[in-house]
Amino acid sequence: MSSATGYPEDLRDLVDAALSDLRFSPAPRTAGLEEAMRYSLLAGGKRVRPVLALATARALGAPPERFLPIASAIELIHTYSLIHDDLPAMDDDDLRRGRPTSHKRFGEDVAILAGDGLFAEAVRLFCEQPGDPARVLAALRELAAATGVDGMVGGQYVDVIGAELDAAGLRELHALKTGRLISASVCVVPILEGTGESETLIYRRFADELGVLFQIVDDILDVTESDERLGKPHGSDERHGKLTYVSLFGLDRARELASESHAKATATLAEAGGRTEDLRRVADYIFTRHE
Ligand code: IPE
Ligand code: IPE
Ligand code: MG
Ligand code: MG
Ligand code: MG
Repeated sequence: MSSATGYPEDLRDLVDAALSDLRFSPAPRTAGLEEAMRYSLLAGGKRVRPVLALATARALGAPPERFLPIASAIELIHTYSLIHDDLPAMDDDDLRRGRPTSHKRFGEDVAILAGDGLFAEAVRLFCEQPGDPARVLAALRELAAATGVDGMVGGQYVDVIGAELDAAGLRELHALKTGRLISASVCVVPILEGTGESETLIYRRFADELGVLFQIVDDILDVTESDERLGKPHGSDERHGKLTYVSLFGLDRARELASESHAKATATLAEAGGRTEDLRRVADYIFTRHE
């Protein structure tokens, strides 16, 4: 079990072990592609999304281990989004998870394909999740929607075109590009468990707020932390003239807004029944992290 405070390391260990066991093909012709996929996947991310899925399982009284296929699938999709986010045509960053970015190490062509491969393998893995097929399909729909045009990819589009946004528009951008995948990481579990509608709604409200909080904190850390601490280049947003919580509100107000968002998320979680301690720990970690 986890310690009384802090991140649920036991769940992170489960995720890391499952990810390092993953192989995508025994064929020698694509060994280089698999190497590129595993290079980014196993570079040591925080694993917030899969840990959220497993912590939600624990909250609902289900064994976390049972949800490792979907938890891994979510991390594959997240890793694909990072590889593409770093490409020269996007944020043009050289460092990710403490290593040279995929395109720096393998070239842009292979980096694009590594991202594509991770997305497709995630869908395959998700389909291997044990459970009622109708529920697995509904959960896969949730994840695909959170990744697609009304989710991460749509948010990345709004980000790269540099749309002029007011405060509400910026919150919407954060909800799309980061929030929806984080929200889906929680919500796929009650969908698979067949949890009742009103309880599922509480988890959804919690997770939606947590997702926006995650990106507000990411915007703050881009300004306040070092490359070493972040494992990615700080100041990337300013270099690219990105609209962020810090550029729109300033650092102090961005911090206040993060604090309000954290309070709202945890107050919502307190409405849920079940053993929500680990979810609370992840929410606290997301708010207080420096990496
Ligand atoms: C970074 O995500 C990209 C955002 C959505 C802000 P994480 O901060 O979760 O990155 P890793 O997975 O720990 O590397
Ligand atoms: C990226 O937001 C969100 C993704 C969907 C990958 P950022 O561009 O701020 O993420 P980092 O700071 O490079 O990790
Ligand atoms: Mg970006
Ligand atoms: Mg970026
Ligand atoms: Mg960022």
